[in-house]
Amino acid sequence: MLEVSGLNQFYGGSHILREVSFTAGEGRLTVLLGRNGVGKTTLLKTLMGLVAPRSGHIRWQGRPVDGLPPHARVERGFAYVPQGRDIFPRLTVEENLLIGAASRKAPRQVPARIYELFPVLESMKRRRGGDLSGGQQQQLAIGRALMSEPRLLILDEPTEGIQPSVIKDIGRTLRTLVDDGGLTVLLVEQYYDFAQELADHYWVMSRGEIIDGGEAALMHQRGVKGMIAV
Ligand SMILES: Nc1ncnc2c1ncn2[C@@H]1O[C@H](COP(=O)(O)OP(=O)(O)OP(=O)(O)O)[C@@H](O)[C@H]1O
Ligand SMILES: [Mg+2]
Repeated sequence: MLEVSGLNQFYGGSHILREVSFTAGEGRLTVLLGRNGVGKTTLLKTLMGLVAPRSGHIRWQGRPVDGLPPHARVERGFAYVPQGRDIFPRLTVEENLLIGAASRKAPRQVPARIYELFPVLESMKRRRGGDLSGGQQQQLAIGRALMSEPRLLILDEPTEGIQPSVIKDIGRTLRTLVDDGGLTVLLVEQYYDFAQELADHYWVMSRGEIIDGGEAALMHQRGVKGMIAV
C-alpha cells in the first residue's frame, strides 16, 4: 500500500498541499480528481521526490521513502508519467523507451511485452518522438515508465489533449496492467467519465486538501462530478 500522511508543501509563501493524507491499495487503480491548480501535480512531484515536502510522510509497502531521491524511489518500484508527457522529440521512439531503463542493469533492448501493450510503438520505433501524435506520445510516455518494471505507476492527466479512441486504449491498457500484472496505479485526472469508469477507488482534492474519497462505485451518489466541475 501507498500511505501518504500529513503532507504539507509550499511554493514561496503559498501553502499548496495542506495536511494531505490518503492511501492507494496495492493491485488497485486509484484516481485522484481535482480542478485546475488545486495541487495535483505538486502532490505527484512530492511522491516522486522531485520536490521536498515541508512536513509529512510517504510509505510504500510498509517502508518510508521520505528523503529518498527520485532514482531511489524508482528502485523501490515507483514510476512517473508526467503531465505533458515530456517525450524527447529528437530521439527515436526506441531511444525514448530505453531511457526509461537507464537506471537499471536491465538488457539494453525493449522487452516484447512493452510492444505488445502498445503495438503502435513497435511500428513507429525508428521514428522521432516528436513525429508522433499526442496520443502516441502519451503511450510512449507510459511505455517508457514501464521500462523500469515498476510496482507503482503514477500518471498525471494522461488524457489531456488526446483523442477519444486513444483515451479508450490507454484505459484498457491500465486496467490490464492492474488486473493481469498486479500493478498499483495512481492516476491524476480531471476527466470524470474516464476516471469513474476505470477506478477502483477515488479521492478528490480541492485547494490543496483531500475533501472526499471512497470506493469508485460511490462516485456518482457522492456527487464527485460536481466537486470537480469548472
Ligand atoms: N514551481 C512553482 N512555483 C510556484 N508556484 C507553483 C509552481 N508550480 C505550481 N505552482 C502553483 O501551485 C498551485 C498548484 O499547482 P499544480 O500544478 O500542483 O496544480 P494542478 O492541480 O496539477 O493543476 P492542473 O490541473 O492545471 O495541472 C497553483 O496555484 C500553481 O500556480
Ligand atoms: Mg497538474
